[in-house]
Amino acid sequence: MSILITNIKSLVCVETEMHKWVAGKDMQNLNTIENAFLLIENDIISDFGKMSDLNQDDFKGETIDAAGKMVFPSFCDSHTHLVYAGSREIEYGDKIRGLSYEEIAKRGGGILNSAKLLHNTSEDSLYEQSLERINEIIGFGTGAVEIKSGYGLTVEDELKMLRVIKRLNENTPITIKATFLGAHAVPAEYKERQDEYVDLVINEMIPQVAMEELADYIDVFCDKGFFTVEQTDRILMAGMKYGMRPKIHANELDYSGGIQVGVKYNALSVDHLEFTGDDEIKSLLESETMPTLLPGAAFFLGMVDPPVRKMIDAGLPIALASDFNPGSSPSGDMKFIMSLGTIKLRMLPEEVINASTINGAYAMGISDTHGSIAKGKIANIFITKKISSYEYMPYAYTSKLVDQVILNGKLIS
Ligand code: NIG
Ligand code: FE
Repeated sequence: MSILITNIKSLVCVETEMHKWVAGKDMQNLNTIENAFLLIENDIISDFGKMSDLNQDDFKGETIDAAGKMVFPSFCDSHTHLVYAGSREIEYGDKIRGLSYEEIAKRGGGILNSAKLLHNTSEDSLYEQSLERINEIIGFGTGAVEIKSGYGLTVEDELKMLRVIKRLNENTPITIKATFLGAHAVPAEYKERQDEYVDLVINEMIPQVAMEELADYIDVFCDKGFFTVEQTDRILMAGMKYGMRPKIHANELDYSGGIQVGVKYNALSVDHLEFTGDDEIKSLLESETMPTLLPGAAFFLGMVDPPVRKMIDAGLPIALASDFNPGSSPSGDMKFIMSLGTIKLRMLPEEVINASTINGAYAMGISDTHGSIAKGKIANIFITKKISSYEYMPYAYTSKLVDQVILNGKLIS
C-alpha cells in the first residue's frame, strides 16, 4: 500500500541527517520544504522532496492533494497517565476555592482518590474508558504516547493498569511505551510505614511487572510529600536490574534532588522541573537525560513555571508532554500544550514544535523511528487544514487544525 501526498504547502520537521535530539540554539531551527511531496510505502516514509522533483508517472497507490495544507510528523507525547478510571472534577472545585495540590493529596484526595476509583473498576471498563482517550489524542495528531501505571498502588491493580496499556498497544495504531509507576503515592494504609510500601514496590511489584514484560520504563514521584531521594534511589536500582530505564517525576513541588538522582541512573528523561536551578542545569548538561516540561500541569494547578529560557540558553534540549491525567492535567491535546509552551513559557514556535516531536520521541526511546520526517522512519504524520504558516499552529490556540491522520502508513481519519 502506498500513499503519495502532493502539493504540500510546507513539509515540517524534515531531517536529512538523523539527530537523537535537538538542543540549545538548534531548537530554533525547523527544517521545512515548501511545495513538497511525501511518499509513504507500507508503513514507512520512503521519499520526499520538492514537487518539481516528483515523477508521478508510474505511481499506483492513493494520492492525497494537500494544496494549502502542511504536513507534520505526529506528536510524540512522552509523559501521560491516560489509563485512569472516572474523573476528579470534585477536587477541581476545591482547588478553585484555594486548596493546594499537596493539601488535597494529604486529605486522601488526589492520586489516592483515583486509586480507589480504579480499584472498583473492572479491567474491561478501564480499557474502554482509556480507549476513548487514545482515540481522542489520535485525532489531536499524537502518533506515539507513553502511558504510566500508578493509580493501582497494589500488586493486582498495578498489573491491571499495565495489562490495559498492553491491550491498548496491541489494538490501536498509535505507538505506546509503558512505564511502571508503583511509587506514585503512598497508600493510606502505609501512611506511617512508607518504607514498607517501598519494599512492596521493590520486592513484589517490580519482579511481577518484569515477569509479565509489562513495562519499558520505571518512574518514581520524587518530590516533597511523596518519595525521597533515598527511596527513589532504591526503586530505580531495583527496576534497572530488570532492564527498566528510569523516566521520573522530579522537582515539581520543590528542589527535591529528583533531577540529580535521575541523572545518576541515566534516566531517559526527568519530568516537570518547575524547580530547576543552576545545580540542576549543570547536572543535566553532563547527561543523556531529556529535560521534559509539562506546562499543562503548572497551568491547571496555577503553579510556577520552569525557567525554560535559562535551560535552553544553557544548551539543554527540552521536550514538551501533556501529562494527561485526571488530577493535574485533564487534557492530551499536544497542540494546546505547544500553545502553553509559547504563551506561558516564552518558547518560540520552532522550539515548541521540536520539543513536541523529535525531543518527545527521544524522551520515550523512539527517536530513531519517530518524531521527524526522515526516510526510513515510521509513517506517522498528520495533514493540517489550510493554514498560513507553521507558527499558526501554536498561535490559534483552540482551533482544531489537524485534518487527516496517517499512522503506520494507513489513513486513520
Ligand atoms: O504528573 N505529579 C504526579 N503525578 C501526576 C498527577 C497525578 C494526579 O494528580 O492524578 C502529575 O502531575
Ligand atoms: Fe505525571
